Order: sequence, then C-alpha cells, then structure tokens
Amino acid sequence: MALADFVADLDALADAAQQAFASVADAAALEEARVEFTGAKAGKLKAAQQGLGKVDKADKPAAGKKFNEAKTAVEAALEAARQRVAASGIVVRPGPAVAKASAIAPRVIIGGPLDVTVPGKKLRLGHLHPVTQTIADMKDIMGRLGFTAVEGPEIEDEWHNFEALNIPAIHPARDPLDNFYLATAQVAASQRPAGAPQEKPLLLRSQTSTVQIRVMESTPPPVRIISLGRVYRPDTADATHYPMFHQIEGLLIDRGVTMADLKSVLRLFCQSYFGKYEVHIRFRPSFFPFTEPSVEVDMNWQGGWMEMGGAGMVDPNVLRAVGYDPEEVTGFAFGLGVERVCMRQHGITDIRALYENDVRFLSQF
Ligand code: PHE
Repeated sequence: MALADFVADLDALADAAQQAFASVADAAALEEARVEFTGAKAGKLKAAQQGLGKVDKADKPAAGKKFNEAKTAVEAALEAARQRVAASGIVVRPGPAVAKASAIAPRVIIGGPLDVTVPGKKLRLGHLHPVTQTIADMKDIMGRLGFTAVEGPEIEDEWHNFEALNIPAIHPARDPLDNFYLATAQVAASQRPAGAPQEKPLLLRSQTSTVQIRVMESTPPPVRIISLGRVYRPDTADATHYPMFHQIEGLLIDRGVTMADLKSVLRLFCQSYFGKYEVHIRFRPSFFPFTEPSVEVDMNWQGGWMEMGGAGMVDPNVLRAVGYDPEEVTGFAFGLGVERVCMRQHGITDIRALYENDVRFLSQF
C-alpha cells in the first residue's frame, strides 16, 4: 500500500471521528461513537493500525508516526466529548454494554455527575427543649453545691401535697377549684388507722414541696436535695400563667442551718446560672404554711427585681410530721419557677410559646 493512500485514509478517519464526537448529545451516543472509532476489537482505529502492516517497508516509520498522530487526535476528541456530556447535566445512562453486564438495573443519575467534594446539605438536628436545658443547667449547678436531685410522683395524695406541709383541711389552698383533683384511691386496711376512710383523694401535685416530705419520711437527717418537675394549677393560660409548669425545690436539713445559708445558696445558684452578670438576692417577708419565717426571693435583673419564688426555714410542724426532732435539726427550703428563669434567660415574653411545640420557635434555642 502506498504511503499517500494510507495517510489519506487516516485523515478521513480522524475527520470522521472528530465530527462524530463533536455531535454526540448524550452518554449513549458517546458510547456508540467510542466503540465505532476506538473500540479495541472492531474499532476503525484498530482496522487502520492493521493497515500499517501493508505499507511498504521503507515508508513504515513515516506511516507509524502518522498513525500515532491520528490516534492522539481521535482520543482527544473523545475526551472532549466526554467532558462536554458530563457537564451538560443530562440524564446519564450507562451504555447497553454496561446494562447487559450487570444484573442490577442501570442507575440513572439525575442532575449530572456527583461532586463528592461539595459540602453536603446541613442536616437539621433536633435538640433539647429550652425548659429541659434550663432544668439540666440547674441540676448541674446545684449538684456542684452538693445537692442530689430526686424525683417524686406527679399524682399525689393530700398528705404529701398539704397535710404534712402544715396545710390543714380548712386552708383555702386546698379548695377543689384551685387544684386538679383526680379519682380517689383505695387505702389498704393495713395502712389505715381504725375508723379512717377506705378511700383517699388524689390530685396532680400543685407544688414540688411534696418531694420534701417524701424524702424526709424515708431518710434520716442530714438531707440535701433538689427536686425538679412539673406542677399543676388550674390557672387560665396567659402570658405569665400556664396550668402546668416546672419548679425547682431545694431542701437542706442539718444541725444549725440558718437563713444566712439559704441566702448564700440562692445567691451562688443565681450567680452561677446567670454567670455573666453580677447577681444580688433580695428577701421580702412572706407566708407559707410549711416555712417559718417565710420569704419571697427576688433576683436583681438588668436594673429591676425579678421574682424567683418562695423560701424559708422549714416549719417545726413539718419536721415533726416526718418524725424529725425540731430541737435537733433545722433546715431551709425553697421553690423557684423554672419557666420564669428560662424565659428571662432567652428573652421569651409569653410562657405559652414554650408549650405550643412550634419548631420555628423551639429551633432558636
Ligand atoms: N411551694 C411554694 C410554692 O409553690 C414555694 C416554696 C417552696 C416556698 C419551699 C417555701 C419553701 O409557691
């Protein structure tokens, strides 16, 4: 074969290949063109290479060089077509050869090739409710002050919610309109003094002070506990009231406990909680049946005073009711509102927002 003929064939082949690769619009067409021109068994380049053997011996080096040039040009055109198809973002389907080779249905990638270096979409993770976060922080701080967290039941009897707390039957706090009374419970004969009724009323606890009684009934002094949990009062919901809310109750019983200890613990607690700010505690005289003397606790907050809850020295009647000797031990107790602290911390102005479970609201904390 004359060199001129060989070269002319090669040029025609390279032209045809470049045109074919330039006009493919998708991966399937590209694959077809690839097999036609560069296929290892029956591709046109392969055929041209076989033609090399028929070129006159003297022309072989020139023919070989020409063949390599043509091959490089065809491969460059194939590569360019590959990149163009990949970038176009059209649906990419593996060619028939691939589909046949695998028993699995061919994968269809929509939206172009996958760039694994692009940062992924931000996953929206859930988190703890702001009130739960506040409770955890409070437990943590009081834990460091040596107070153990204990739990008590939310369904209580009148003994723990009232009687043992020095709130007698005639006290207005026991009004059925001010409490969530539930069905009555049967009292086992063995646990009932002669003549006592067989049933006792149950109610949703209206204060966490119930836990003070439960702890003192079952442990001898000294006692140093906190209890955090839900309490229930039939208040109409408004910006500052909700029929269910949370309290943190603290109780410390030991020899020689004074009100100075109470004030120090509360100040340390508030100072740790609102760490950035300088905190002062103010006591105002008040009354609770289960403490004597009793105080309302206020904390200074951005120039004003914020009500935190009630506190006082545990009333000797309460100590007696649980079998402690008020001549031996004294103690203090406090009960603070959790929502109030949580709301102040985050600038929330309506308590109802905490219980509407609106993710747009909750995800901010
Ligand atoms: N239990 C009281 C209330 O709910 C708060 C309190 C707790 C007061 C302990 C004194 C001592 O308002």
